[in-house]
Amino acid sequence: MRQQTVNAATTNHEIRDNPWLRSEVEMKSAVLCTVLVAAVSLAAQQQPAQQQPPAPPKPTNPTNLGSDANGNPLRLATKTGHVSNYDESKVKPYMLPDPLVMSNGTPVRDANAWRKRRAEILRLYETDIYGRIPAKTPAVKWQVTLAESPAGEGGAIKKRVTGTIGDAADAPRVNLTLNTPANAKGPVPLILLVSFGGQSGVPQDPPVAADILARGWGYATVLYTEIQPDRNNTFNQGVIGVTLGGQGERAADEWGAIGAWAWGVSRILDYLETEKLVNAKQVAVFGHSRLGKTALWASALDERVAAVYASCSGEMGAALARRDWGETVDDMAQNFPYWFAGNFQKFAGRWNDMPVDAHMLIALSAPRPVFVTGGTADQWADPVGMFKAQVAAGPVYRLLGKKDLGVSELPPLDTPLTNGDLGWHYHTGGHSATPADWKAFLEFLGKYFK
Ligand code: GCU
Repeated sequence: MRQQTVNAATTNHEIRDNPWLRSEVEMKSAVLCTVLVAAVSLAAQQQPAQQQPPAPPKPTNPTNLGSDANGNPLRLATKTGHVSNYDESKVKPYMLPDPLVMSNGTPVRDANAWRKRRAEILRLYETDIYGRIPAKTPAVKWQVTLAESPAGEGGAIKKRVTGTIGDAADAPRVNLTLNTPANAKGPVPLILLVSFGGQSGVPQDPPVAADILARGWGYATVLYTEIQPDRNNTFNQGVIGVTLGGQGERAADEWGAIGAWAWGVSRILDYLETEKLVNAKQVAVFGHSRLGKTALWASALDERVAAVYASCSGEMGAALARRDWGETVDDMAQNFPYWFAGNFQKFAGRWNDMPVDAHMLIALSAPRPVFVTGGTADQWADPVGMFKAQVAAGPVYRLLGKKDLGVSELPPLDTPLTNGDLGWHYHTGGHSATPADWKAFLEFLGKYFK
């Protein structure tokens, strides 16, 4: 009888509130423990020493709390004590700043007024989030380092140019590899991939390279760390190092690594304006994860970017920062301080005080097309928060006579939305830009690049 009351359905809550149940459970576990200890010591006696499993490594990062039952990463932000949430019922209500109301309360009712609001939002992002690019940055000199190949694999012309940042003997060098269709009759639209580099450290071609070329477009790759290293304490290197010239430190409102990578995108656009193989008015920028954040910021800063594809860009990318899901401002400020302006630190634990949120970052690209993706197994990047930000950027697109996402409820998984000027794809899978994402993006981009 008593045995039956303590079954698998008994919740911790019931056990906590019912002393009788507790003693029953405790009794059972005490018995279980005794049996286990006996079994373990018996096993230990029987096993030769060398077959003992190695001691588990001591955790080296106290902020890493492992993962939840669904495999989602659990992280502790030490300054605020925040632990990653993956429960919709625990997402606290939040209010997004209205992208169509000026800071002084004036509503934004037309495209002219949006230009003013846009400048205001841009300034807020510069001051508090990504940091402004210093007034004086080094010039970049571009040289051809691999002459145009004859039509090679897949009918592509390959060409490499190298940009030297500043004029020091040990100046950082940025390699840009262009692939354009050999049968092109003139300058072609281009997708610029800001790349992590594959296992070999060399940027990989997109999985849809052949489709891109077949559409009569080109693609180019650049390794982001050639612009600025992706490590803490490296402001004496990369373009930030050259800019500081060994003199002091960056100001609290100045750029971090994401700002530096975005600066690199602009310098590549400078070069492409001189490149006869490419139509510099049709350059889309792709980035994944931290480079998805970079692509959005690059497009906000430089309106020559014709379209953005931000893959799994997550926190401080396309995901709403006020929404408590997966990575938060607190994690980001703690784990990647050097990606941001020093001022960003003040928002740990104060998300609602941020004058901006991801819908505004997206809207800084309006009326230009923005495509956003997420993955089911990448909850750290809050795919639903990215979808909500795309929806919340909609009013700006509509004001400018463009088409928003077309829906405000999450569509079924693996069903791309490509009809509007804002696009979306939620793939089944993890933290990556999948072939299906790419396929959807090309369809989306095809409305603009003919
Ligand atoms: C970390 C970080 C993310 C980032 C990702 C990446 O997971 O928390 O914000 O997007 O790295 O760049 O791969």
